[in-house]
Amino acid sequence: MFRIRGYLPRITVRTVARVLKDHGGRVADIACGRGVLLKEISTHNNKDVVGIDIDPDQIEYARSAGMTVVLGDIFSMPFKNEIYDIAVCLNTLYNFSSLNDLVSILSEMVRIVRKGGKVVLDIRNKRNLLLYMKYWLHMKRGKHPTVSYLPTEIENVMKGLGCNIVKCEAVGINNQYLALDFVLIFEKE
Ligand SMILES: C[S@@+](CC[C@H](N)C(=O)[O-])C[C@H]1O[C@@H](n2cnc3c(N)ncnc32)[C@H](O)[C@@H]1O
Repeated sequence: MFRIRGYLPRITVRTVARVLKDHGGRVADIACGRGVLLKEISTHNNKDVVGIDIDPDQIEYARSAGMTVVLGDIFSMPFKNEIYDIAVCLNTLYNFSSLNDLVSILSEMVRIVRKGGKVVLDIRNKRNLLLYMKYWLHMKRGKHPTVSYLPTEIENVMKGLGCNIVKCEAVGINNQYLALDFVLIFEKE
């Protein structure tokens, strides 16, 4: 089986950093891990960036690299309502196998973003057969869940949360069956 570990998260982060290059304001990186995206975007326009993650080791790593981060759970974030211009969550949503979990995380992201602000996320492409098989085998072997989606599935959830799609960018090959991942940008009504 081909290996995309490491490669796909990296190109996803780079794609989003490029897309966010012209957006300023306050940015929250949800499930920031070691702060790879924070590091990328803090060198662009976005100076006011904060990350949140539940893993103390990842938080410690990001903090020691100079990032502003907080330890916390993305299901219940210690942030006030509508204080961010952008909430971004990368390389993480595919680890949550229940729709309820997905909706809870997205609701939290929408809650902390101001009206007219952006929610940015990525999904692994359900139509990519190799990825689909890889994740199916992964699940069958009882490993950590990995779930892929169609952009329209997320669009419908976000519509219900009062957000409209403004951009859908393929990561990898720009083809609905071959793209590895999609970066989706929503605007809060
Ligand atoms: C695959 S990593 C992605 C990290 C980063 N976003 C990136 O693209 O490099 C997934 C991250 O989600 C974090 N995570 C998982 N469940 C979480 C939760 N309930 N609250 C906060 N962070 C969580 C993990 O600790 C991990 O750092």
